[in-house]
Amino acid sequence: MTLVLFGATGDLAQRKLFPALYNLYLDGKLPSAISIIGLGRTNYSDRVFQMNVHASLQEFSRRDVQPENVEEFISKFRYCVLDVFNEESYQGLLNLIQMREQELGIAENRMFYLSVAPDLVEIITSNLQSSKISDTKGWKRLIVEKPFGTDLKTARELNEKLSKVFNEEEIYRIDHYLGKPMVQNLETLKFANPILELLWNHDQIANVQITASETVGIEKRAGYYDQAGAIRDMAQNHLLQLLMMTALDIPENLTAQEVEQEKREVVEALRPISKEEASKHIIRGQYAAGEVLGESVIGYQDEPGVVPASKNDTYFAARLYIENPSWENIPFYIRTGKRLEQKSTRIVIEFKNKWKGNPAFEDEGITPNLLIFEINPNESVSLLVNLKNPSTERYEPTNITFSVNSNIQPESYELLLSDAIEGDKTFFAHWKEVELSWQWIQPILEAFQEDALPLYPYPAGSKGPEAADRLLQEDGFNWW
Ligand code: BG6
Repeated sequence: MTLVLFGATGDLAQRKLFPALYNLYLDGKLPSAISIIGLGRTNYSDRVFQMNVHASLQEFSRRDVQPENVEEFISKFRYCVLDVFNEESYQGLLNLIQMREQELGIAENRMFYLSVAPDLVEIITSNLQSSKISDTKGWKRLIVEKPFGTDLKTARELNEKLSKVFNEEEIYRIDHYLGKPMVQNLETLKFANPILELLWNHDQIANVQITASETVGIEKRAGYYDQAGAIRDMAQNHLLQLLMMTALDIPENLTAQEVEQEKREVVEALRPISKEEASKHIIRGQYAAGEVLGESVIGYQDEPGVVPASKNDTYFAARLYIENPSWENIPFYIRTGKRLEQKSTRIVIEFKNKWKGNPAFEDEGITPNLLIFEINPNESVSLLVNLKNPSTERYEPTNITFSVNSNIQPESYELLLSDAIEGDKTFFAHWKEVELSWQWIQPILEAFQEDALPLYPYPAGSKGPEAADRLLQEDGFNWW
Protein backbone atom coordinates (compact mmCIF):
# COMPACT_ATOMS: atom_id res chain seq x y z
CA MET A 1 0.00 0.00 0.00
CA THR A 2 0.88 3.66 -0.34
CA LEU A 3 0.42 6.21 2.42
CA VAL A 4 0.30 9.75 1.08
CA LEU A 5 0.77 12.20 3.88
CA PHE A 6 -0.31 15.79 3.32
CA GLY A 7 1.29 18.10 5.89
CA ALA A 8 4.37 15.91 6.35
CA THR A 9 6.49 18.79 7.59
CA GLY A 10 3.91 19.81 10.19
CA ASP A 11 3.69 19.39 13.91
CA LEU A 12 1.29 16.42 14.00
CA ALA A 13 3.45 14.42 11.60
CA GLN A 14 6.60 15.00 13.66
CA ARG A 15 5.09 14.49 17.07
CA LYS A 16 2.56 11.77 16.45
CA LEU A 17 2.40 10.23 13.00
CA PHE A 18 6.04 9.32 12.33
CA PRO A 19 6.51 7.87 15.83
CA ALA A 20 3.22 5.97 15.46
CA LEU A 21 4.33 4.49 12.14
CA TYR A 22 7.69 3.56 13.61
CA ASN A 23 6.14 1.79 16.56
CA LEU A 24 3.81 -0.09 14.24
CA TYR A 25 6.83 -1.05 12.22
CA LEU A 26 8.62 -2.35 15.32
CA ASP A 27 5.53 -4.39 16.18
CA GLY A 28 5.36 -5.86 12.69
CA LYS A 29 2.04 -4.10 12.06
CA LEU A 30 3.16 -2.11 9.06
CA PRO A 31 2.92 -3.91 5.72
CA SER A 32 6.47 -4.78 4.71
CA ALA A 33 5.90 -3.38 1.23
CA ILE A 34 4.71 0.09 2.05
CA SER A 35 5.49 3.31 0.26
CA ILE A 36 5.15 6.44 2.37
CA ILE A 37 5.13 9.73 0.54
CA GLY A 38 5.39 12.94 2.51
CA LEU A 39 4.13 16.18 1.02
CA GLY A 40 4.84 19.76 1.93
CA ARG A 41 5.58 23.17 0.53
CA THR A 42 9.25 23.26 1.51
CA ASN A 43 11.80 21.89 -0.90
CA TYR A 44 13.53 18.85 0.61
CA SER A 45 15.50 16.02 -0.89
CA ASP A 46 14.32 12.51 0.03
CA ARG A 47 17.36 12.11 2.24
CA VAL A 48 16.80 15.31 4.18
CA PHE A 49 13.17 14.33 4.68
CA GLN A 50 14.19 10.87 5.89
CA MET A 51 16.59 12.48 8.34
CA ASN A 52 13.75 14.69 9.62
CA VAL A 53 11.67 11.58 10.17
CA HIS A 54 14.59 10.03 12.02
CA ALA A 55 14.98 13.13 14.20
CA SER A 56 11.29 13.14 15.07
CA LEU A 57 11.54 9.50 16.19
CA GLN A 58 14.45 10.35 18.44
CA GLU A 59 12.49 13.13 20.02
CA PHE A 60 8.98 11.74 20.20
CA SER A 61 8.90 7.96 19.85
CA ARG A 62 7.69 6.17 22.98
CA ARG A 63 10.30 3.48 22.32
CA ASP A 64 13.98 4.07 21.70
CA VAL A 65 15.13 4.27 18.14
CA GLN A 66 16.94 1.07 17.25
CA PRO A 67 20.04 1.74 15.15
CA GLU A 68 19.86 -1.70 13.51
CA ASN A 69 16.51 -1.14 11.87
CA VAL A 70 15.79 2.57 11.72
CA GLU A 71 17.52 2.90 8.34
CA GLU A 72 15.20 0.30 6.85
CA PHE A 73 12.20 2.13 8.29
CA ILE A 74 13.11 5.55 6.94
CA SER A 75 13.99 4.09 3.55
CA LYS A 76 10.24 3.63 3.04
CA PHE A 77 9.79 7.41 2.91
CA ARG A 78 9.94 9.68 -0.13
CA TYR A 79 9.22 13.36 -0.33
CA CYS A 80 7.38 15.45 -2.90
CA VAL A 81 6.91 19.22 -2.97
CA LEU A 82 3.29 20.03 -3.55
CA ASP A 83 1.31 23.19 -4.03
CA VAL A 84 -2.10 21.95 -3.00
CA PHE A 85 -3.87 24.59 -5.10
CA ASN A 86 -2.02 23.83 -8.29
CA GLU A 87 -3.53 20.96 -10.28
CA GLU A 88 -0.34 20.38 -12.23
CA SER A 89 1.56 19.86 -9.04
CA TYR A 90 -0.47 16.67 -8.49
CA GLN A 91 0.91 15.20 -11.70
CA GLY A 92 4.35 14.97 -10.07
CA LEU A 93 2.75 13.27 -7.10
CA LEU A 94 0.95 10.75 -9.27
CA ASN A 95 4.21 9.93 -11.08
CA LEU A 96 6.00 9.35 -7.81
CA ILE A 97 3.20 7.18 -6.41
CA GLN A 98 3.18 5.03 -9.56
CA MET A 99 6.95 4.79 -9.73
CA ARG A 100 7.12 3.52 -6.17
CA GLU A 101 4.24 1.11 -6.74
CA GLN A 102 6.19 -0.42 -9.59
CA GLU A 103 9.51 -0.45 -7.76
CA LEU A 104 8.01 -2.20 -4.76
CA GLY A 105 5.58 -4.33 -6.74
CA ILE A 106 2.64 -3.13 -4.65
CA ALA A 107 -1.04 -2.94 -5.51
CA GLU A 108 -2.77 0.37 -6.07
CA ASN A 109 -4.06 0.61 -2.51
CA ARG A 110 -3.79 4.24 -1.51
CA MET A 111 -4.40 5.92 1.79
CA PHE A 112 -4.47 9.73 1.90
CA TYR A 113 -3.84 11.30 5.28
CA LEU A 114 -4.82 14.97 5.42
CA SER A 115 -2.91 16.52 8.28
CA VAL A 116 -3.58 20.04 7.02
CA ALA A 117 -5.56 23.17 7.88
CA PRO A 118 -9.29 22.39 7.58
CA ASP A 119 -9.82 24.88 4.77
CA LEU A 120 -7.49 22.83 2.53
CA VAL A 121 -9.42 19.58 2.80
CA GLU A 122 -11.89 20.34 0.03
CA ILE A 123 -9.39 21.52 -2.52
CA ILE A 124 -7.04 18.61 -1.90
CA THR A 125 -9.83 16.09 -2.23
CA SER A 126 -11.08 17.58 -5.44
CA ASN A 127 -7.55 17.74 -6.88
CA LEU A 128 -6.96 14.11 -5.96
CA GLN A 129 -9.90 13.35 -8.15
CA SER A 130 -9.11 15.60 -11.09
CA SER A 131 -5.50 14.36 -11.18
CA LYS A 132 -6.86 10.77 -11.13
CA ILE A 133 -4.69 9.93 -8.12
CA SER A 134 -7.83 8.69 -6.39
CA ASP A 135 -8.69 6.48 -9.39
CA THR A 136 -7.09 3.35 -8.06
CA LYS A 137 -7.46 -0.25 -9.09
CA GLY A 138 -7.22 -1.25 -5.43
CA TRP A 139 -8.79 0.39 -2.40
CA LYS A 140 -8.54 4.04 -1.45
CA ARG A 141 -9.04 5.67 1.93
CA LEU A 142 -9.12 9.23 3.15
CA ILE A 143 -8.13 10.11 6.70
CA VAL A 144 -9.22 13.54 7.89
CA GLU A 145 -8.43 15.30 11.11
CA LYS A 146 -10.88 17.39 13.09
CA PRO A 147 -12.39 19.96 12.98
CA PHE A 148 -14.92 18.56 10.56
CA GLY A 149 -16.68 21.82 9.66
CA THR A 150 -17.32 24.73 11.97
CA ASP A 151 -21.07 24.26 12.37
CA LEU A 152 -23.86 22.07 11.07
CA LYS A 153 -24.05 23.79 7.69
CA THR A 154 -20.32 23.80 6.91
CA ALA A 155 -19.95 20.22 8.11
CA ARG A 156 -22.70 19.13 5.73
CA GLU A 157 -21.13 21.08 2.87
CA LEU A 158 -17.75 19.54 3.54
CA ASN A 159 -19.20 16.08 3.70
CA GLU A 160 -21.00 16.56 0.43
CA LYS A 161 -17.78 17.62 -1.28
CA LEU A 162 -15.80 14.69 0.13
CA SER A 163 -18.55 12.31 -0.86
CA LYS A 164 -18.03 13.20 -4.49
CA VAL A 165 -14.61 11.56 -4.34
CA PHE A 166 -14.79 9.04 -1.49
CA ASN A 167 -17.75 7.06 -0.27
CA GLU A 168 -18.54 6.90 3.45
CA GLU A 169 -16.81 3.55 3.82
CA GLU A 170 -13.61 5.16 2.54
CA ILE A 171 -13.64 8.21 4.82
CA TYR A 172 -11.90 7.85 8.18
CA ARG A 173 -12.63 10.85 10.42
CA ILE A 174 -10.04 10.80 13.15
CA ASP A 175 -11.00 11.71 16.68
CA HIS A 176 -7.87 10.91 18.63
CA TYR A 177 -9.89 10.40 21.82
CA LEU A 178 -11.28 7.26 20.20
CA GLY A 179 -7.73 5.99 19.90
CA LYS A 180 -7.01 6.22 23.61
CA PRO A 181 -6.60 2.68 24.91
CA MET A 182 -8.92 3.19 27.87
CA VAL A 183 -11.64 4.55 25.61
CA GLN A 184 -11.23 1.57 23.32
CA ASN A 185 -11.53 -0.60 26.38
CA LEU A 186 -14.89 0.78 27.46
CA GLU A 187 -17.04 -1.40 25.26
CA THR A 188 -14.91 -4.52 25.63
CA LEU A 189 -14.98 -4.08 29.40
CA LYS A 190 -18.75 -4.08 29.40
CA PHE A 191 -18.85 -6.87 26.85
CA ALA A 192 -16.51 -9.18 28.70
CA ASN A 193 -17.68 -8.42 32.23
CA PRO A 194 -21.34 -9.20 32.70
CA ILE A 195 -21.30 -7.69 36.18
CA LEU A 196 -20.52 -4.32 34.66
CA GLU A 197 -23.22 -4.69 32.06
CA LEU A 198 -25.70 -5.43 34.83
CA LEU A 199 -24.80 -2.22 36.61
CA TRP A 200 -24.71 -0.11 33.49
CA ASN A 201 -28.26 1.25 33.37
CA HIS A 202 -30.66 3.74 34.85
CA ASP A 203 -31.78 1.43 37.66
CA GLN A 204 -28.32 1.51 39.18
CA ILE A 205 -26.68 4.68 37.95
CA ALA A 206 -27.40 8.11 39.40
CA ASN A 207 -25.39 10.16 36.91
CA VAL A 208 -22.40 10.04 34.57
CA GLN A 209 -19.66 12.66 34.51
CA ILE A 210 -17.19 13.13 31.69
CA THR A 211 -14.29 15.48 32.29
CA ALA A 212 -11.50 16.59 29.98
CA SER A 213 -9.59 19.23 31.90
CA GLU A 214 -6.35 20.72 30.74
CA THR A 215 -3.66 22.84 32.32
CA VAL A 216 -2.38 24.25 29.04
CA GLY A 217 -3.70 27.50 27.63
CA ILE A 218 -4.30 28.04 23.97
CA GLU A 219 -0.60 27.58 23.17
CA LYS A 220 0.17 29.30 19.86
CA ARG A 221 -3.22 28.63 18.33
CA ALA A 222 -5.12 31.86 19.00
CA GLY A 223 -6.08 32.22 15.33
CA TYR A 224 -7.90 28.92 15.38
CA TYR A 225 -9.00 28.75 19.00
CA ASP A 226 -10.48 32.23 19.24
CA GLN A 227 -12.90 31.20 16.50
CA ALA A 228 -13.49 27.66 17.71
CA GLY A 229 -13.77 27.88 21.50
CA ALA A 230 -14.01 24.88 23.78
CA ILE A 231 -17.40 24.04 22.31
CA ARG A 232 -16.00 23.26 18.85
CA ASP A 233 -12.51 22.27 19.90
CA MET A 234 -13.49 19.65 22.47
CA ALA A 235 -17.22 19.36 23.15
CA GLN A 236 -18.68 18.72 19.69
CA ASN A 237 -16.19 15.96 18.99
CA HIS A 238 -14.16 14.50 21.87
CA LEU A 239 -16.72 14.88 24.68
CA LEU A 240 -19.69 13.73 22.64
CA GLN A 241 -17.69 10.77 21.37
CA LEU A 242 -16.83 9.81 24.94
CA LEU A 243 -20.49 10.15 25.82
CA MET A 244 -21.49 7.84 22.97
CA MET A 245 -18.86 5.28 23.95
CA THR A 246 -20.06 5.33 27.56
CA ALA A 247 -23.76 5.17 26.83
CA LEU A 248 -23.96 2.75 23.94
CA ASP A 249 -25.79 -0.50 24.42
CA ILE A 250 -23.34 -3.32 24.02
CA PRO A 251 -23.88 -4.89 20.60
CA GLU A 252 -23.92 -8.63 20.25
CA ASN A 253 -20.78 -9.05 18.19
CA LEU A 254 -18.93 -5.77 18.56
CA THR A 255 -18.57 -5.34 14.81
CA ALA A 256 -17.75 -1.90 13.46
CA GLN A 257 -21.24 -1.64 11.93
CA GLU A 258 -22.94 -2.54 15.18
CA VAL A 259 -20.87 -0.11 17.20
CA GLU A 260 -21.63 2.61 14.67
CA GLN A 261 -25.33 1.85 14.89
CA GLU A 262 -25.34 1.91 18.69
CA LYS A 263 -23.37 5.15 18.84
CA ARG A 264 -25.72 6.74 16.40
CA GLU A 265 -28.70 5.70 18.48
CA VAL A 266 -27.20 7.43 21.50
CA VAL A 267 -26.58 10.73 19.79
CA GLU A 268 -29.92 10.55 18.03
CA ALA A 269 -31.60 10.20 21.41
CA LEU A 270 -29.95 13.27 22.93
CA ARG A 271 -32.62 15.60 24.21
CA PRO A 272 -32.20 18.81 22.23
CA ILE A 273 -31.33 21.98 24.11
CA SER A 274 -32.91 24.99 22.47
CA LYS A 275 -31.22 28.35 22.24
CA GLU A 276 -33.63 29.66 24.87
CA GLU A 277 -32.87 26.82 27.29
CA ALA A 278 -29.11 26.98 26.85
CA SER A 279 -28.51 29.05 29.96
CA LYS A 280 -30.24 26.38 32.06
CA HIS A 281 -28.07 23.48 30.97
CA ILE A 282 -24.85 24.96 29.65
CA ILE A 283 -22.04 26.80 31.40
CA ARG A 284 -19.49 28.70 29.41
CA GLY A 285 -16.41 30.22 30.92
CA GLN A 286 -13.18 31.98 30.09
CA TYR A 287 -9.95 31.90 32.06
CA ALA A 288 -8.57 34.98 33.75
CA ALA A 289 -4.98 35.38 34.97
CA GLY A 290 -3.93 33.00 37.70
CA GLU A 291 -1.44 30.35 38.69
CA VAL A 292 -1.25 26.92 37.10
CA LEU A 293 0.99 24.24 38.60
CA GLY A 294 2.92 26.91 40.48
CA GLU A 295 3.42 29.26 37.52
CA SER A 296 1.72 32.60 36.95
CA VAL A 297 -0.09 32.79 33.66
CA ILE A 298 -1.92 35.53 31.82
CA GLY A 299 -5.65 35.61 31.22
CA TYR A 300 -7.22 34.54 27.93
CA GLN A 301 -7.95 38.10 26.83
CA ASP A 302 -4.25 38.94 27.08
CA GLU A 303 -3.06 35.97 25.03
CA PRO A 304 -1.30 37.12 21.86
CA GLY A 305 -3.61 36.90 18.86
CA VAL A 306 -6.89 36.90 20.78
CA VAL A 307 -9.22 39.68 19.63
CA PRO A 308 -9.72 42.45 22.20
CA ALA A 309 -12.61 41.74 24.58
CA SER A 310 -13.12 38.33 23.00
CA LYS A 311 -16.11 36.46 24.36
CA ASN A 312 -14.75 33.11 23.28
CA ASP A 313 -15.28 30.17 25.62
CA THR A 314 -12.30 28.32 27.08
CA TYR A 315 -14.56 26.29 29.36
CA PHE A 316 -17.71 24.37 28.53
CA ALA A 317 -19.96 22.27 30.72
CA ALA A 318 -23.36 20.80 29.97
CA ARG A 319 -26.11 18.63 31.37
CA LEU A 320 -27.52 16.19 28.86
CA TYR A 321 -30.21 13.57 28.80
CA ILE A 322 -30.37 10.56 26.55
CA GLU A 323 -33.98 9.75 25.83
CA ASN A 324 -33.91 6.00 25.54
CA PRO A 325 -34.98 3.23 27.92
CA SER A 326 -31.45 2.60 29.23
CA TRP A 327 -30.81 6.16 30.31
CA GLU A 328 -34.18 7.63 31.06
CA ASN A 329 -33.85 10.64 33.37
CA ILE A 330 -30.20 9.98 34.17
CA PRO A 331 -28.16 13.16 33.74
CA PHE A 332 -24.86 13.08 31.90
CA TYR A 333 -22.59 15.97 32.76
CA ILE A 334 -19.73 16.87 30.49
CA ARG A 335 -17.07 19.52 31.01
CA THR A 336 -13.83 20.66 29.49
CA GLY A 337 -11.58 23.65 29.94
CA LYS A 338 -8.16 25.13 29.40
CA ARG A 339 -5.96 26.38 32.24
CA LEU A 340 -7.62 24.31 34.91
CA GLU A 341 -5.91 22.94 38.00
CA GLN A 342 -5.06 19.55 36.53
CA LYS A 343 -4.73 17.59 33.33
CA SER A 344 -7.24 14.80 33.55
CA THR A 345 -9.55 13.03 31.18
CA ARG A 346 -11.90 10.72 32.99
CA ILE A 347 -15.33 9.21 33.08
CA VAL A 348 -17.00 8.77 36.43
CA ILE A 349 -20.11 6.69 36.89
CA GLU A 350 -21.90 7.53 40.11
CA PHE A 351 -24.18 4.80 41.38
CA LYS A 352 -27.40 5.35 43.23
CA ASN A 353 -26.84 5.60 46.94
CA LYS A 354 -29.66 4.08 48.90
CA TRP A 355 -28.38 5.71 52.07
CA LYS A 356 -28.68 9.17 50.59
CA GLY A 357 -30.84 11.33 52.83
CA ASN A 358 -30.65 8.81 55.66
CA PRO A 359 -28.88 10.79 58.38
CA ALA A 360 -27.95 7.68 60.36
CA PHE A 361 -25.67 6.58 57.57
CA GLU A 362 -24.77 9.88 55.98
CA ASP A 363 -23.27 11.02 59.25
CA GLU A 364 -21.04 8.00 59.23
CA GLY A 365 -19.51 9.10 55.99
CA ILE A 366 -21.05 6.78 53.39
CA THR A 367 -20.44 8.09 49.89
CA PRO A 368 -21.89 6.81 46.63
CA ASN A 369 -20.04 4.04 44.83
CA LEU A 370 -18.14 5.31 41.86
CA LEU A 371 -16.69 3.54 38.88
CA ILE A 372 -13.89 5.69 37.55
CA PHE A 373 -12.11 5.40 34.22
CA GLU A 374 -8.96 7.49 34.14
CA ILE A 375 -8.09 7.97 30.51
CA ASN A 376 -5.31 10.52 30.42
CA PRO A 377 -2.56 11.15 31.49
CA ASN A 378 -2.80 8.08 33.73
CA GLU A 379 -4.83 5.07 32.83
CA SER A 380 -6.74 3.16 35.43
CA VAL A 381 -10.08 1.69 36.34
CA SER A 382 -11.17 2.04 39.91
CA LEU A 383 -14.14 1.36 42.07
CA LEU A 384 -14.83 3.52 45.04
CA VAL A 385 -16.31 1.51 47.90
CA ASN A 386 -17.09 2.29 51.53
CA LEU A 387 -14.97 0.50 54.11
CA LYS A 388 -15.46 0.95 57.81
CA ASN A 389 -12.43 2.05 59.74
CA PRO A 390 -12.50 0.01 62.95
CA SER A 391 -10.79 2.64 65.04
CA THR A 392 -12.89 5.65 64.02
CA GLU A 393 -16.06 3.63 63.42
CA ARG A 394 -16.62 5.74 60.35
CA TYR A 395 -16.94 4.70 56.74
CA GLU A 396 -14.07 5.71 54.53
CA PRO A 397 -14.30 5.82 50.78
CA THR A 398 -11.62 3.46 49.48
CA ASN A 399 -10.42 3.03 45.93
CA ILE A 400 -9.91 -0.43 44.46
CA THR A 401 -7.73 0.46 41.55
CA PHE A 402 -6.22 -1.24 38.58
CA SER A 403 -3.56 0.97 36.97
CA VAL A 404 -2.16 0.45 33.55
CA ASN A 405 1.48 1.07 32.84
CA SER A 406 1.05 3.81 30.25
CA ASN A 407 4.65 3.53 29.05
CA ILE A 408 4.01 0.22 27.39
CA GLN A 409 0.63 1.16 25.98
CA PRO A 410 0.43 2.08 22.31
CA GLU A 411 -0.54 5.65 21.62
CA SER A 412 -3.81 6.84 20.06
CA TYR A 413 -2.35 7.41 16.65
CA GLU A 414 -0.73 4.00 16.58
CA LEU A 415 -4.00 2.25 17.24
CA LEU A 416 -5.94 4.42 14.82
CA LEU A 417 -3.41 4.20 11.99
CA SER A 418 -3.21 0.48 12.40
CA ASP A 419 -7.01 0.22 12.21
CA ALA A 420 -7.10 2.41 9.12
CA ILE A 421 -4.47 0.23 7.44
CA GLU A 422 -6.57 -2.82 8.30
CA GLY A 423 -9.74 -1.10 7.08
CA ASP A 424 -11.41 -1.26 10.50
CA LYS A 425 -13.60 1.78 11.14
CA THR A 426 -14.81 0.93 14.64
CA PHE A 427 -12.94 3.79 16.27
CA PHE A 428 -13.52 6.47 13.68
CA ALA A 429 -16.32 9.00 13.67
CA HIS A 430 -18.99 8.22 11.13
CA TRP A 431 -20.75 10.93 9.24
CA LYS A 432 -24.10 10.45 10.94
CA GLU A 433 -22.55 10.79 14.39
CA VAL A 434 -20.71 13.90 13.34
CA GLU A 435 -23.80 15.41 11.78
CA LEU A 436 -26.01 14.59 14.77
CA SER A 437 -23.38 15.99 17.14
CA TRP A 438 -23.39 19.25 15.22
CA GLN A 439 -27.15 19.20 15.20
CA TRP A 440 -27.23 18.97 19.00
CA ILE A 441 -24.54 21.65 19.35
CA GLN A 442 -25.97 24.09 16.79
CA PRO A 443 -28.58 25.90 18.95
CA ILE A 444 -25.97 26.22 21.70
CA LEU A 445 -23.48 27.70 19.26
CA GLU A 446 -26.11 30.21 18.27
CA ALA A 447 -26.82 31.04 21.88
CA PHE A 448 -23.09 31.70 22.33
CA GLN A 449 -22.96 33.87 19.24
CA GLU A 450 -25.95 35.88 20.40
CA ASP A 451 -24.47 36.15 23.85
CA ALA A 452 -27.65 34.66 25.25
CA LEU A 453 -25.97 33.18 28.30
CA PRO A 454 -23.38 34.42 30.76
CA LEU A 455 -19.66 34.02 30.14
CA TYR A 456 -18.22 33.19 33.54
CA PRO A 457 -14.61 34.16 34.19
CA TYR A 458 -12.55 31.68 36.23
CA PRO A 459 -9.03 32.09 37.57
CA ALA A 460 -6.40 30.05 35.75
CA GLY A 461 -5.44 27.08 37.90
CA SER A 462 -8.93 26.71 39.41
CA LYS A 463 -11.58 24.04 38.91
CA GLY A 464 -13.47 26.31 36.51
CA PRO A 465 -16.46 28.58 37.10
CA GLU A 466 -18.50 27.98 40.24
CA ALA A 467 -21.61 28.06 38.09
CA ALA A 468 -20.58 24.62 36.83
CA ASP A 469 -20.76 23.32 40.41
CA ARG A 470 -24.23 24.77 40.79
CA LEU A 471 -25.35 22.93 37.66
CA LEU A 472 -24.88 19.65 39.53
CA GLN A 473 -25.95 20.94 42.92
CA GLU A 474 -29.36 21.72 41.43
CA ASP A 475 -29.74 17.97 40.94
CA GLY A 476 -28.26 17.05 44.32
CA PHE A 477 -24.85 16.01 42.93
CA ASN A 478 -21.31 17.28 42.78
CA TRP A 479 -18.44 16.81 40.35
CA TRP A 480 -16.02 14.03 41.09
C1 BG6 B 1 -7.15 18.55 20.61
C2 BG6 B 1 -7.56 19.97 20.84
O1 BG6 B 1 -8.08 17.93 19.75
O2 BG6 B 1 -7.11 17.84 21.84
C3 BG6 B 1 -6.59 20.64 21.81
O3 BG6 B 1 -7.57 20.69 19.62
C4 BG6 B 1 -6.47 19.83 23.08
O4 BG6 B 1 -7.00 21.96 22.12
C5 BG6 B 1 -6.16 18.36 22.75
O5 BG6 B 1 -5.42 20.37 23.86
C6 BG6 B 1 -6.23 17.53 24.01
O6 BG6 B 1 -5.80 16.22 23.72
P1 BG6 B 1 -5.25 15.25 24.84
O7 BG6 B 1 -5.01 13.98 24.15
O8 BG6 B 1 -4.01 15.90 25.37
O9 BG6 B 1 -6.30 15.19 25.92
